[in-house]
Amino acid sequence: VERQAKLYEGKAKIVYATADPNIVISYFKDDATAFNAQKRGQIADKGVVNCKVATHLFQLLESQGVKTHWLETPSDREMVVRAVNIIPLEVVVRNLAAGSLCKQTGLALGTPLTPPLVEFYYKNDDLGDPLLTRDRIRAMNLADEAQIHELTRLAGEINTLLQTFFQRCQITLVDFKLEFGLDQTGQILLADEISPDTCRLWDQAKSDQAERVLDKDRFRQDLGNVAEAYQEVLKRILAQVNLK
Ligand code: C5P
Repeated sequence: VERQAKLYEGKAKIVYATADPNIVISYFKDDATAFNAQKRGQIADKGVVNCKVATHLFQLLESQGVKTHWLETPSDREMVVRAVNIIPLEVVVRNLAAGSLCKQTGLALGTPLTPPLVEFYYKNDDLGDPLLTRDRIRAMNLADEAQIHELTRLAGEINTLLQTFFQRCQITLVDFKLEFGLDQTGQILLADEISPDTCRLWDQAKSDQAERVLDKDRFRQDLGNVAEAYQEVLKRILAQVNLK
């Protein structure tokens, strides 16, 4: 599959057209941003690591019956995916309190959330990705009742599958963000990526907070060894995949 015109450039990825209008190529960059792009930087080989991590996680989910946009990964930074119309919602699942939840509610870092929280944020940089309610999603016509229900169900199912997998890697899946798209037939597919950029992942072998973080919080909070943490996540995932 050959790359053609650039269709869209985001903060971490570039999307290219292919000869087939139903297929696009997602190119993973090393650029890192945080706090709505107020903090910018680069993480060495992040694009390569995230492309590999997302590939393995999409394959895992597909093997368990979750429909994703992933088709193949022909090179280190490229993923061939189904073209979808992205639903402008960031679906966040939280197993333990962290990040904006702690900031907005006062819940202590690491507070268990049972059942896990499923939250919807509006994917809009100008508005700062605000938290939405189901009523607001309907009022804004971002998704109908049935779609909101399906997104919530999918988010819960994906959480269960990913939690089980990361447990085998001795990593705690604290929280993560998903994006979904609609294909030509209106079917909802999991899209974008799942990687240390979009998840909070804590190393179960460490108890010190600054040491156990294996995700983008190392970049957000200037904890150091950012690239090394991303490589560690990939290494543990590959060790599990190779066991099979
Ligand atoms: O910042 P917050 O605590 O709401 O983030 C929750 C989860 O969603 C984190 O894993 C974070 O990395 C992810 N996220 C993301 N992209 C955003 C916002 C959050 O991947 N724009």
